Amino acid sequence: MNKRSFIKSTAMTGIAAAIGMDTLAALFDSKKNVPADLLASDADFWGKIRKDYLLKPDYINLENGYYNFVPQPTLEKYIQHIRDINYQASYYMRTVQWDNKTRMAAKLAEVAGCSPDELIITRNATESLDLVIGGQDWKAGDEAVMAVQDYGSMIDMFEQVSNRYGIKLVKVSVPNHPESDDDIVSLYANAITTKTKLMMVSHIINITGHILPIRKICDMAHSKGVAVMVDGAHAYGHFQYKIDDLNCDYYGTSLHKWMSVPLGAGFLYIKKTRIDKLWPLLGDGNKDMASIKRLNHTGTHPCATDLAVEDALDYYNMMGGEKKEKRMRYLQEYWTDKVRGLPRIILNTPKDLNRVCGIVNVGIEGINPVEMATRLMKEYKIFTVGIDYANVQGCRICPNVYTSLEELDIFVEALKSMAKKA
Ligand SMILES: Cc1ncc(COP(=O)(O)O)c(C=O)c1O
Repeated sequence: MNKRSFIKSTAMTGIAAAIGMDTLAALFDSKKNVPADLLASDADFWGKIRKDYLLKPDYINLENGYYNFVPQPTLEKYIQHIRDINYQASYYMRTVQWDNKTRMAAKLAEVAGCSPDELIITRNATESLDLVIGGQDWKAGDEAVMAVQDYGSMIDMFEQVSNRYGIKLVKVSVPNHPESDDDIVSLYANAITTKTKLMMVSHIINITGHILPIRKICDMAHSKGVAVMVDGAHAYGHFQYKIDDLNCDYYGTSLHKWMSVPLGAGFLYIKKTRIDKLWPLLGDGNKDMASIKRLNHTGTHPCATDLAVEDALDYYNMMGGEKKEKRMRYLQEYWTDKVRGLPRIILNTPKDLNRVCGIVNVGIEGINPVEMATRLMKEYKIFTVGIDYANVQGCRICPNVYTSLEELDIFVEALKSMAKKA
């Protein structure tokens, strides 16, 4: 769609045109001295950001967790990259493709807080983490530790290597409301034996939004000689941290989630000392064992997505990581404070701000979570996802920075009304 037809189509659907990157930069600049805590509740400011999102009027979207759909300024740039690469044809692929990818990886590493030599762009968190799981030098009898609340595809991959190499999987269950970090650290510590080789830990549990004390878990695991792979699918671009501070061995994330890169991008961090020990997922001509690039063979792929990484990072950096995080926390606390403690409403995510940011899971006693999600959509036009496994029965609620308080008020009233009738 060219610029003219884009404006025409948005006018036809009655949606205000997005503000461009320059106007956006000026808007953020005008607020640069406003503390993030204060800006978080500035309805006028976030209302302007909301205009960057082409929102479907059919429902209130409280399911931004699967992926963050892309704001218009980033989308327009992405479409332009597709056009440019198509125009240049193979010339692009044979000249600047890899330099551009390396440049994008370096920009990701800057925000992630790690060395650019330790990070590669992948297609998603699944590819990143499965590369680490499948690429270990497994021996029969080795053990791996994970949680029943971890993402299913990674557990599937562990099951595959278990069947293939005869390794034992040890699964812990993370409580929804721990009393302290020690509760969590000792849970993982008790699962380690002399045979444990790798531990998978979610930075933020996808079904609840529970943030785990990664640094403490890594320090404990290392003291026992165990490597830690962190699943950060929901963390990057959501709240702030530095991978170097986490002291993990591997870190995988998706970029189409909270960093709002167009679909099909992720990254994998591997600590320098671990790079030469991994088998690649796909063979590569680079035989330098110390180079992370030998693990990054993808074949021909949609490299316009790589270019859009920069645009999404620009958008995020313009907003500022702290301002985004504070906005996410503000929205979360806005609605959870209104329902916490009400009869039959169960919050499955800790309240402690060290353990939660924007995502929370909420259930209603007597209503099956899938039915709850169906009814929220049917009766209140609120889109969420119902989750019913491990120790979690409820809907995962993922607002995004553009979510309005009016939308959250509708959600709160829906919850109260459903709980009353349950
Ligand atoms: C915790 C977690 N890990 C991994 C993934 C997989 O992400 P992707 O499908 O982008 O590879 C998800 C997806 O929702 C997730 O929530």
